[in-house]
Amino acid sequence: MIFQSLRFKLTVWYVLILAVLLVSFSSFLYFTLSNMLYRSVDNKLRSLAGLIASESSSPLSTFGFGDMEQPLGASTNLKPIGKFIQVLDESGRIGQKSDNLKNVQLPISLNTLRNASNGLITFETSRSFGNTPLRIVTLPVIEGNQISRIVQVASSLEDVEDALHNLFVILLITVPSALVLASLGGQFLANKALKPVDDITQTAHRITSQNLNQRIKLLKGRDEISRLIETFNEMISRLDKSFQQIKQFSSDASHELKTPLTILRGEVEVALRKERAVQEYEQILRSNLEEINRMSTIVEDLLLLSKTDMDAVPLHRGPVHLTEILHDVVGQVGILAQAKQIHLQTVNSDGDITVLGDDLRLRQLLLNLIENGIKYTPEKGSVSVSLRKEVNAVRAAGEHAGFVKIIVSDTGIGIDKKDQEKIFDRFYRVDKARSREQGGSGLGLSISKWIAEAHQGDISVESELEKGSTFIVKLPMAVF
Ligand SMILES: Nc1ncnc2c1ncn2[C@@H]1O[C@H](COP(=O)(O)OP(=O)(O)OP(=O)(O)O)[C@@H](O)[C@H]1O
Ligand SMILES: [Mg+2]
Repeated sequence: MIFQSLRFKLTVWYVLILAVLLVSFSSFLYFTLSNMLYRSVDNKLRSLAGLIASESSSPLSTFGFGDMEQPLGASTNLKPIGKFIQVLDESGRIGQKSDNLKNVQLPISLNTLRNASNGLITFETSRSFGNTPLRIVTLPVIEGNQISRIVQVASSLEDVEDALHNLFVILLITVPSALVLASLGGQFLANKALKPVDDITQTAHRITSQNLNQRIKLLKGRDEISRLIETFNEMISRLDKSFQQIKQFSSDASHELKTPLTILRGEVEVALRKERAVQEYEQILRSNLEEINRMSTIVEDLLLLSKTDMDAVPLHRGPVHLTEILHDVVGQVGILAQAKQIHLQTVNSDGDITVLGDDLRLRQLLLNLIENGIKYTPEKGSVSVSLRKEVNAVRAAGEHAGFVKIIVSDTGIGIDKKDQEKIFDRFYRVDKARSREQGGSGLGLSISKWIAEAHQGDISVESELEKGSTFIVKLPMAVF
């Protein structure tokens, strides 16, 4: 589990990258320093050998190797101290050597001797000289086209090798220690960075449909994690809202169905209490049928709305002549208007208006709005329906040709400002008791809104209490 965690992976990557960097840097340091030190030894040996070659060939030379350290040290800034010097003749026999060589001699290989006789200088490292590693330069002295002598100068490599060894030990201790510290630091950083992610996980674990009001604490600043938390909180808010709506919807739906059921049961119970005349039974059955019809309408509307939620209501699109369907719908509700002596009129100055849509649904939309107008307008009022075209004069690519407006106005009771945005919600009725008397369940406008939006249009209301209401449906104009 721990190996799967992001924390572990981040730390491992961090330490691996650092390890590669540190090892490369240490190797570079070690090899550069070693190269520099060896080269510096070689340069010094080469200079000293050159000097000795020229000094020893001078005819006035009183040069003795035994005490050469003093004059050489004084005349140059070379330090012959600790250097072994030996001069051989051209065949390799030892001529002179420095005191510090005592009774030993610097080794000279056959190869080096051959190089010298060819006039070539040779640098070599010898480990056969006691315990001390020696760096030896072998320089042939050429006089009049002939090798006259061979100068050998050697120096101990002990200091150089000690220094390099010490550096190696230091690196061997510090690099792994640095890596251990880095892995602790890396873990600390990863923990710190991922702590909010743990918080998110825990909160998400705690959240169920029962406590969707929980939120994750926001961090200071605006980094990626804060944005994640914000997005997560917004998502929970949306879920919370939808859950509330669903709860509200189910409780409203059951309440709505309970009322007609209670009435139905009451009527049947009363009917069964004693024997009655046929007319009485008929009357009761008629009343029963009314309640049953009301329930069927509610159930049908609910079914339609829940299908629209799942996008499962297909629209059968085709050219719809709004003028014609308006004429039909007005005919259908004429009786209702007459019963309340309401003046129902249609205004259509723009000729035949055709849109692309679902004939049945658009009829339902018109019926809902006109029915509402009649329902919520007192007797002797008026309801007018007008169709209007609004052509888009300047049209950008992809934009539709304009709008068709269906305007349903009444001189009814009007709707308070605070209720205007809610009337499109499911089951919302401004005055429940009054609306029930009229047979409404508060679903008509929700369905109308869905129909308008499914046709890429919209619906809005303008209203003033006691004066009347105007519902405006905007549908995109069809281009044929
Ligand atoms: N023309 C109107 N004038 C005044 N109030 C209205 C008008 N139309 C709708 N309302 C208010 O909006 C509420 C919701 O209307 P909606 O059509 O959704 O439901 P309903 O008419 O009560 O019932 P249903 O349409 O389902 O039979 C109504 O109850 C009423 O209070
Ligand atoms: Mg209605």
